[in-house]
Amino acid sequence: MSGPIVCVDDQPEVRRLLAELFRARGREVMSFDNGEDAIAWLSNHEAELVVLDLDLGAGRRTGIEICRELRSRLPELPIIILTGHGTIDDAVIAVKAGAVDFITKDPYLEDKLAISVEKVERILEHARDRRRLEDENRELRATNEKLRRAAGRRWAIVGDSPSIRNVMTKIERVAPLPRPVLVLGPRGTGKELVARAVHTLSPRASEPFITINCAAVAESLLESELFGHEEGAFTGATKQKEGKFELADGGTLFLDEIGNMSMEFQAKILRVLEYQRFERVAGSESIQVNVRVIAATNADLKVAMAEGRFRPDLYDRLAFEVIQLPALAARLDDVPVLATYFLARFRQEVAGITVREISAEAFDAFASYDYPGNVRELKNVVERAVYMASGEVLTAADVAAALPPEAQLGASASTAGASGFQDDARLPLGERVDAFESWLCRDALERTRFRQKEAAQLLGLTYDQFRQRYRKYGLGKD
Ligand SMILES: Nc1ncnc2c1ncn2[C@@H]1O[C@H](COP(=O)(O)OP(=O)(O)OP(=O)(O)O)[C@@H](O)[C@H]1O
Ligand SMILES: [Mg+2]
Repeated sequence: MSGPIVCVDDQPEVRRLLAELFRARGREVMSFDNGEDAIAWLSNHEAELVVLDLDLGAGRRTGIEICRELRSRLPELPIIILTGHGTIDDAVIAVKAGAVDFITKDPYLEDKLAISVEKVERILEHARDRRRLEDENRELRATNEKLRRAAGRRWAIVGDSPSIRNVMTKIERVAPLPRPVLVLGPRGTGKELVARAVHTLSPRASEPFITINCAAVAESLLESELFGHEEGAFTGATKQKEGKFELADGGTLFLDEIGNMSMEFQAKILRVLEYQRFERVAGSESIQVNVRVIAATNADLKVAMAEGRFRPDLYDRLAFEVIQLPALAARLDDVPVLATYFLARFRQEVAGITVREISAEAFDAFASYDYPGNVRELKNVVERAVYMASGEVLTAADVAAALPPEAQLGASASTAGASGFQDDARLPLGERVDAFESWLCRDALERTRFRQKEAAQLLGLTYDQFRQRYRKYGLGKD
């Protein structure tokens, strides 16, 4: 609330006294000898405070009436009531009418007013803080809500970046077709998630989705795993067993990590893809299936082909559609929606999680790391941060504590130390300290590519503290 202090009293000497008193404290004053005029003026002007006499003279509305009317019109405007008597009754009436304070006009009026005004200032300050906090919370909730909505995405694939949208478009396009799909991408980027989405969106959705990790099984066993075996096919094969291709009949088979199969084995896979027929190990019957294959790898198949480790004919067959997943570092703008999504999921899975929201600084902290383990690593970081945090709002410090040590900006800075700083021992101590502080701030800026927020973090300063030094030392780029 800004504007003058409005004083309403029918006695000119009291008005004069009040005006002097407030002006001496650097305040502007508007005086009225009756309540009606004050109300009229306040209906189109702002004021900081009203000091209102209880008894405004015969034939006039009383201070209490004026106070009630002001209260209902301007509920935020603080009112102090002055009275000639100072009886308990008056005090009770004044407070009931909505006055924040009540003062008797006596020889100590000046002191009492000073104390009362200080009290009002504290109340105002408090109200301002509360309003600011409410605004901030509203904003925070709106951001988190927006992210949560964006996070409730299709088939559990979360992200708003152009590259992930492109992935979604491809999934929708290829899903209905009975053709293989090749999913490529670094570890933890969501290859299996994509394979499941393709299956879910296909007409086979109600049929089985079978997965096999080709790299996790020795090749001699892989054949039996995929195609099954007859009883006695090898030592230990006591029973006939169906392979994954049979189990996936009518549905989808996800061949994960196909990058390491031998060339011979690749030829077998190719044959099944072409003819949808195979024999069990040690079997003679030719089994016919209807299986859609989705293959995935984090290996670079182009290189593998160039080096003669991957069959180009198998590649061509699998690559009816290639879905390439980007590393998370290439789409850090997806980090907020992903973090929000993982928080929501974690809250569903685990009881007693206090964190409900993620602060803007925490979002920044999440996005300050490049996640070599991609989305899987981000998920772990989010869960660790949330699990260790104790408040309702996740802070940047919570996130920093959950990131791996190499993500801590401070870690790299401390190894660099202060090498390169030229101290001049002839200068007075104060100037040497300033020179060093300025050097540290500039150094932090350079390390963070002039991102001031990160530089502040690096130095363990709040943003405001950093900005203060930034201005003091004139640290603009040149
Ligand atoms: N876009 C995304 N939205 C939501 N969750 C995701 C996304 N991408 C990955 N995840 C999650 O990250 C984790 C890893 O995903 P997934 O197993 O699909 O990755 P991958 O590429 O198959 O990894 P790897 O190469 O290690 O096998 C899973 O928990 C998955 O749910
Ligand atoms: Mg995988």
